[in-house]
Amino acid sequence: MIEEKRIVLRNADNIDPEDIKDYLQAGGYRGLEKARSMRTIDLIEEVKKSGLRGRGGAAFNCGLKWSFVPPNRGATFVVCNLDEGEPGTYKDRTIVQKDPQTLLEGMAICAHAINSKQGYIYCRGEYPYVVELLNRAIGQAKEAGVLGDFDIEVRMGAGAYVCGEETALIESLEGHRGEPRFKPPFPGVEGLWGQPTVVNNVETFANLPEIVLNGGEWYAAIGAPNYTGTKVLTLTGDVKNRIFIEVPTTTTLREVVFGFGGGIKDDKKFKAVQVGGTSGGFIPEHLLDTQIDADSMRSIGATLGTGAVFVMDETRDIVDIVTRIAKFFEHESCGKCNPCREGTYRAYEIMKKINQGQAVAQDIDNLTVLGRVMEKACLCGLGQAAPSPTLTTLQHFYPEYQARLRAQ
Ligand SMILES: Cc1cc2nc3c(=O)[nH]c(=O)nc-3n(C[C@H](O)[C@H](O)[C@H](O)COP(=O)(O)O)c2cc1C
Repeated sequence: MIEEKRIVLRNADNIDPEDIKDYLQAGGYRGLEKARSMRTIDLIEEVKKSGLRGRGGAAFNCGLKWSFVPPNRGATFVVCNLDEGEPGTYKDRTIVQKDPQTLLEGMAICAHAINSKQGYIYCRGEYPYVVELLNRAIGQAKEAGVLGDFDIEVRMGAGAYVCGEETALIESLEGHRGEPRFKPPFPGVEGLWGQPTVVNNVETFANLPEIVLNGGEWYAAIGAPNYTGTKVLTLTGDVKNRIFIEVPTTTTLREVVFGFGGGIKDDKKFKAVQVGGTSGGFIPEHLLDTQIDADSMRSIGATLGTGAVFVMDETRDIVDIVTRIAKFFEHESCGKCNPCREGTYRAYEIMKKINQGQAVAQDIDNLTVLGRVMEKACLCGLGQAAPSPTLTTLQHFYPEYQARLRAQ
């Protein structure tokens, strides 16, 4: 049985998150001290060497992203994405609640790498208590003098899922309506107020103190070679143990669901697992031996995304669940681009028809074509990933759709 490996959560439940002294006693801010003794170019190389890829969904190489920030372009910004709007995901909130200083230290390491004096944490609007905790933690860090001339402010979102998308987040931080921007230019070159900006996820930042302290090679030796390190997962649904774990990325879904999760509740049978949140693909039993690294997940049509693992037992109605998800996307589409605004609306319309037993085979064909078009044509990841639950369930659970069709 594979065991947990705690890097991000190394201090969880061992320190008082409200008291920076505990963090300092546990070796906190030694990573930042080491980072500050390095030339920025060497620091970025070290992070690249670790192989760390973003933990917010897109799995982009962290050091590479930092290297795109052009030198001598005036102010640069470090932005932490704590929007966490993905249903079933609560890892970023928990990381911060257990150890807020590790996030601040990770952001300050990034600030040194890109020569930034100002950071922002964009926090989900439903987490006011996390904002309070973070403000206290920032106050203590300033008082202790550990952040130097790097300042961090916390800003709250207002409940729009799309504001987790990095450019919509930047628009929202600027005080505008949260809609994604066209890319390129990427935020690393032109982000907040037109200035170079690094946006990273909470878990990405929280890995950095240990990476800098122990070296990139140390980190690269943990987990899968293509998606190194660990992943924090939130396990929900029809599983015996609904837990929060940090495991090496070589762990398989079966180990997560049946090992850590203890298997299915009430001795029912397993039906499917959805990984990555609402936009994640549905994975059937025969694919459970797949590793949780982002590329392996992609290879089976799923996404690791934020690491939300939602388990469904044999009694779950796949068509009904996918219909609810389609409603979520129809509601959350910001409306800026046509394929998403119209596509999520039509997809929900067809799913409702199927769910109510009113659809014919042609509706399923239309749904498939619509999904393929949205994957290619939508402006941002919201619309591009929205068809994933439909397309993967059509692939793996087609008989459930077929059984709902109206006799012609
Ligand atoms: C609709 C949508 C919602 C997203 N929500 C989040 C989120 O809540 N948190 C997050 O870190 N990334 C989210 N992302 C991904 C971000 O755009 C971005 O890739 C990420 O913050 C970069 O950080 P990373 O490289 O450390 O993963 C979302 C993307 C999309 C398309």
